[in-house]
Amino acid sequence: MARQFPVPHRVRTLADCHNIEDFRTLAHRKLPFPVFHYIDGAGDDELTKGRNTAAYADVDLVPNVLAGVDEIDTSITVMGRKTDLPLILSPTALQRLFHWQGERAVARVAERHNLWFGISSLSSVSIEEVGANYAGPKLLQYYYHKDRGLNAALVERAKAANFDAIALTVDTIVSGNRERCKRTGFTTPPKFTARNFLSYATHPAWGLNFLFRERFSLPNLETHVSEGSSSAISIQDYFNSMLDRNMDWKAVEQLRQDWGGTFCLKGVMSVADAKRAADIGCNAIMVSNHGGRQLDGSRAPFDQLEEIVDAVGDRMEVICDGGVRRGTHVLKALATGATAASGGRLYLYALAAAGEAGVERAVTILKEEIERGMRLMGVTSVDQLNRDMLRRR
Ligand code: FNR
Ligand code: LAC
Repeated sequence: MARQFPVPHRVRTLADCHNIEDFRTLAHRKLPFPVFHYIDGAGDDELTKGRNTAAYADVDLVPNVLAGVDEIDTSITVMGRKTDLPLILSPTALQRLFHWQGERAVARVAERHNLWFGISSLSSVSIEEVGANYAGPKLLQYYYHKDRGLNAALVERAKAANFDAIALTVDTIVSGNRERCKRTGFTTPPKFTARNFLSYATHPAWGLNFLFRERFSLPNLETHVSEGSSSAISIQDYFNSMLDRNMDWKAVEQLRQDWGGTFCLKGVMSVADAKRAADIGCNAIMVSNHGGRQLDGSRAPFDQLEEIVDAVGDRMEVICDGGVRRGTHVLKALATGATAASGGRLYLYALAAAGEAGVERAVTILKEEIERGMRLMGVTSVDQLNRDMLRRR
């Protein structure tokens, strides 16, 4: 085989970022290590996180040519809203810890590109603020807590703020084993310890923003609990002490009724569960393993997508969440039958690297990758992608 000569490539500024992996490199430079490893890390041996992306390499695209692809349409309709790209920015927690602009930056970029984005129950800006300021399609990711008052308040607040959908996360009945976080001592809010202090001290831009800008909090929760906002807790301990392990299908049906609007189950992986979600009237499911952060050794969403689409694709929307790092990954998910692809780290690395400008550049790169990929595949609209254009190795 011919010897490879890699192009020397240093990632020091936003202009050096040409793909999602470059943003990851820059995020690693910019963040104190406990924060970087919270984003980048996953469960146990992180096999599932790796497979989530590797799965896309096991399927090849087979293009058609000479299709007249000057004008193309990348838009789709998902969960009742038309969006400009078949890509959803998945809900992720604690964003103001990654960059002081946090969810506000992500929301502004999502609105500019007319994309769905989600805020977490553990978001660092409030449901009300997002509802008031962003007109684009937005969902509230819902954690089902033991505290019934908190659960009811989340539904009422999302209704009052005109959220377009709720996505109930069902893969987090207990926390995954985040060994990187155990080693770094990451908590929310961060606690400075002898072990990690040097890393915060050597990233003064992050530290000054954290100390001198608006106080960090989790405003969707702090009306009911202090954990996470003012008393420091690890995410593992938060999940294991606050979330209701008795959550079951009855609870889901009740929540869907109480909400009354577009409803998505996030974290469905089996055909049996997907069918049950369709039976109870869910509008969409996210086939997802939480970015590999929960059950390590579980299957990748893209590997599982075909059988789920075949079982329920005619009854509800199927969103493929996790592992997406390239526009061609989105095209492969859509060609398999997903309504949309979705991802977290694909914009989080960019947020950490450079705030709103970073997220803007990451989304623009993915948009260009999707557009270029469609043209090279010989399709002019997303619905022309189909399984004839895929071959498994
Ligand atoms: C997440 N994810 C997540 N999911 C959720 O339902 N509620 C949450 O609060 C969070 N928080 C969160 C934080 C961080 C730092 C990450 C990386 C992920 C999971 C997220 O919604 C999505 O399922 C994964 O990110 C998908 O995998 P990729 O795209 O990161 O590979
Ligand atoms: C996580 C959360 C908060 O994965 O869902 O860390």
